[in-house]
Amino acid sequence: MSTPKLASDVEPLITEEDLARRVAEMGAEITRDYEGKDLTLLVILKGSFVFASDLARQIDLPLAVDFIGLSSYGAQTESSGVVRITQDLSRPVEGRHLLVVEDIIDTGLTMKYLLENLRSRHPESVRVASLLEKPARNLHAVEIDYRGFEIPDAFVVGYGLDFDERYRNLPFLGVLEQDARG
Ligand code: IMP
Ligand code: MG
Repeated sequence: MSTPKLASDVEPLITEEDLARRVAEMGAEITRDYEGKDLTLLVILKGSFVFASDLARQIDLPLAVDFIGLSSYGAQTESSGVVRITQDLSRPVEGRHLLVVEDIIDTGLTMKYLLENLRSRHPESVRVASLLEKPARNLHAVEIDYRGFEIPDAFVVGYGLDFDERYRNLPFLGVLEQDARG
């Protein structure tokens, strides 16, 4: 496929093929680990929607899907330090095995907040699957059970991740050039 026009200011980092291969590996690992358990994928909106839809189809188990909306960023590329629940879960999670599906762990602030919030709802277990991690920035230590890729400390877009709501529909992951961030 030719480079989409949308991507003229994006430097490719992880191709569609490499994403698909890694997500399939993660799905296989999750399938082995959750055999015989009541699994709920807890998808963090909005950035994880593409990863989660691909990952769910690589997990060969009966599972439930629920969504939680969290926001720690405004239109800036730095975390504001404040996490808000913008949309809550649709059902109780008590007694369920939760797998939180996140697009990227940057400072770890969002995940730390979410894990504390979830534990107060008494699930049977909670694990984390994150497509990306920026280890250089991990200020709030978060244990990631299933990690897709470690990436350098750059602002990335595509495959669900946005800058100011744009680029989520790029099929690959890339680094947004400084100029495009205004
Ligand atoms: P944290 O709280 O700093 O770990 O930030 C996590 C959230 O910030 C992620 O769920 C993303 O929504 C957003 N985020 C962090 N880094 C990036 C990036 O490079 N591109 C797009 N969104 C990002
Ligand atoms: Mg996010």
